[in-house]
Amino acid sequence: MRILAIETSCDETGIAILETTGALGAISPRAQIKVLADVLVSQASIHAEFGGVFPALARREHAKNMMPLIIRALSEADLLRPQQSVRILHTKEKETLEKIFYKEPELFEAFKTALLDISIPDIDAIAVTSGPGLEPALWVGINTAEALGTLWGVPVIPVNHMEGHIVASLLTHKSTTDGKKNFALASLHYPALTLLISGGHTELVLMARAGTYEVLGQTRDDAVGEAFDKVARMLGLAYPGGPEISKLAEQVPTGKKLIDPLPRPMLSSKNFDFSFSGLKTSVLYAIKKIPSITPEMKAIIAKDFEDSVTEVLVAKTLAAAKKYNVYEIILGGGVSANKKIRAAFINAVRRELPGVTLFLPDQKLSTDNGLMIGVAGLLRSSKVAKKIIAEGHLCLSQNSRPTLAELRKRK
Ligand code: KG4
Ligand code: ZN
Repeated sequence: MRILAIETSCDETGIAILETTGALGAISPRAQIKVLADVLVSQASIHAEFGGVFPALARREHAKNMMPLIIRALSEADLLRPQQSVRILHTKEKETLEKIFYKEPELFEAFKTALLDISIPDIDAIAVTSGPGLEPALWVGINTAEALGTLWGVPVIPVNHMEGHIVASLLTHKSTTDGKKNFALASLHYPALTLLISGGHTELVLMARAGTYEVLGQTRDDAVGEAFDKVARMLGLAYPGGPEISKLAEQVPTGKKLIDPLPRPMLSSKNFDFSFSGLKTSVLYAIKKIPSITPEMKAIIAKDFEDSVTEVLVAKTLAAAKKYNVYEIILGGGVSANKKIRAAFINAVRRELPGVTLFLPDQKLSTDNGLMIGVAGLLRSSKVAKKIIAEGHLCLSQNSRPTLAELRKRK
């Protein structure tokens, strides 16, 4: 079966087309997933001057990029077949589409121009991020997905963005055929623990069995990616700040340290919550204390900030892994692209929990993309009757899937 996936939760417009064997929600363990297309436009440079993502601008850019990207993805997947004559919409179809796009007439025009003169592609379902994220941005993806579902007569599956990050970490590149990548999806042993670290989230999630999520702890203020972005801004670095801080920290000569190290927030608290707002303020004070800050001092501060975040993340994750006796630890989200954090987790798990398997996402799949939404969509059932709505604060635990036994009981 084939799925087209749409991601627009933040500042990346991502479209992927994936192919696999098995029906929706029933793909076999270790199934091969072939990437027919994977295209992305990042708005990072546009948001750079604001030092963060500006929702109205994100929405406008997603709307501008959406149809050209869908066409590019169909073409990459060799599924783009021009028709001799433009398709005439039935009254019912027209009414449904008008309703979907009633707040976005320009997107509707772009949709008709791009899609009415191509034949219906061989695609079985559409997956779309429904939350969490920026609601104006999410709606662009959701409306496009619903419209494609109407036009092509296929189901639309809402996907939790954070579940997308989890499954991205479970993909291993297997082979390449006809220039297309094939991935295998690891099957997990439960209980498993996930640490999600992105621009909007920092949470430790326990998975007692497949598809169930219990949030053990989360940030009480800033997400870790948000802290990276804000600290980067204080140091005069570009947005997104994570990769910039990481590059700067690498330049610090060994042995050079801050005289007054930054705090390691909540390192010894007895719960699994995090807090990064105070750390950010400490960085601000550290900068203010220095009358004329040199590039080397900036790098030393960046490194201590990265070290602090790393120590806290590793300590809390390992403590939770030990408490819940997990077989596996999964790291997911944009911040898991960070080299220091990756290396620290590899070393700590090897040293303290040698029996536990650590899953890290391929660096390219760490940050937002359509592929991860497609894979999460493939794992879901296609029986979604309700209208999909954008849920900015959609929580992973709301997304727990019932077991087959529970489903039978409900009948
Ligand atoms: O998952 P993601 O692409 O988007 C959200 O769902 O939020 O994560 C984006 C976040 C940004 O805050 C960015 O600064 C951070 O991930 N990030 C990094 C690195 N690459 C991206 N943080 C630290 N080190 C990196 N190498
Ligand atoms: Zn993300």
